[in-house]
This record gives sequence, C-alpha cells and structure tokens, in this order.
Amino acid sequence: MRLCHCYPRDAMGRSSGGSGALDGREFRRVLGHYPTGVAVVSAACPHGPEGLTIGSFASVSLDPPLVSFCAGHESDSWQRMRDVGSFCVNVLGDDQADVSTTFAGKADDRFEGISTRVEATGAPVIEGCLAWIDCRVEAVHTAGDHDIVVGRVVALGTAPGDIESAPGPLIFLKGGYRRVSGL
Ligand SMILES: Cc1cc2nc3c(=O)[nH]c(=O)nc-3n(C[C@H](O)[C@H](O)[C@H](O)COP(=O)(O)O)c2cc1C
Repeated sequence: MRLCHCYPRDAMGRSSGGSGALDGREFRRVLGHYPTGVAVVSAACPHGPEGLTIGSFASVSLDPPLVSFCAGHESDSWQRMRDVGSFCVNVLGDDQADVSTTFAGKADDRFEGISTRVEATGAPVIEGCLAWIDCRVEAVHTAGDHDIVVGRVVALGTAPGDIESAPGPLIFLKGGYRRVSGL
C-alpha cells in the first residue's frame, strides 16, 4: 500500500494550506447538485465486519483495473478499516435506501439483520446489491480532510437474474435519495 500526502490547492494549482473563504454549507449545497450512486464499502476487520455508506465511488483505470472512493478522516469505521488492506464496494439498488441509512448511522452493529457472503478478499458482500467489486488497497492519498483510497479490483460481479426486472441504482441528489427515471 502506498501512502501519499498532498496539500490543498486552489483552482490555479496554488497550495493554500487551509480551508480559505469558502462556506462549507454552500460547498455542500452546490456539490449536492451532482448526483451520485450510493454504495457500502465493507471490510473484514479482526474484531468483525465494518462498513460505511459512500457516494464518492468512481472507476479509475481499466489496465490495471483500479477504482477509488473518498473516506473522511472523521469516519470511525474507516479508521478501523484502513489497515485491513482490502475492501468490497457494494452498489446499492433503489430498494436499499434503508441499508444506506444504516451504514451512514451510529448503530452498534450495522450488519445486524443484513445477509452477507464472502467472495475473493474476505470482505462482506451484501446480498441483494446490484453489483459488488472486491479490491486490494493499492494506494491511499491524503486530500484535505479525506483519504482518496485507490483499490485494485480482484473480483467483481452483478446480482443474478434478469436485468430488466432488477431494481435500478439508488441515487443521492440534493440531500435526498432518488431513483432513475427514463428520458
Ligand atoms: C448518501 C451518502 C453518501 C456518503 N458518502 C460518503 C463518502 O463518500 N465518504 C465518506 O467518508 N462518508 C460518506 N458518507 C457519510 C458516512 O456514511 C458516515 O459519515 C459514516 O458512516 C459515519 O460513521 P462512522 O464515523 O462510524 O464511519 C455518506 C453518507 C450518505 C448518506
């Protein structure tokens, strides 16, 4: 695992070293206009399974196969997961908003009542997810108050069954859950 440290830069690429004059609520409001999918990043920690809801999942590279997500430094679950060295991205369907809420909340055991299985890395794969992507941690880049986590994909798959009858993806937009409607 590679650890990289970067410092905040303004739009001109100048290092600022601080949060600047931007208002945090306005930052969130404007960025909230960009819709994201919703996933649970899970890992098999020594004391048991851990997971947190993320909207920052992205595909990065095909060769080698890399993906990424961003985890806040204040996330307790990420602090417990980061030394495991592997994780699974569980892509949630629009029938799983309750799963997203659970894994973004403060329940003692977020996996209570959640059926899981294991694929390549040992990280829990949540049953009923639209897709799962099992990864080994390739690099962790410090970026402001988050870590950019880059994972090398070692196995992946989609929910079994007919794609036409499967749920659509869960979407997060302007602070709320949405579903995709066709054009
Ligand atoms: C839709 C949605 C998307 C989220 N995306 C992220 C994300 O990309 N990165 C992150 O660190 N937290 C994200 N969160 C917040 C975390 O899920 C939440 O802060 C975390 O689970 C808090 O628990 P912890 O401190 O035990 O980790 C998101 C929450 C929701 C509801």
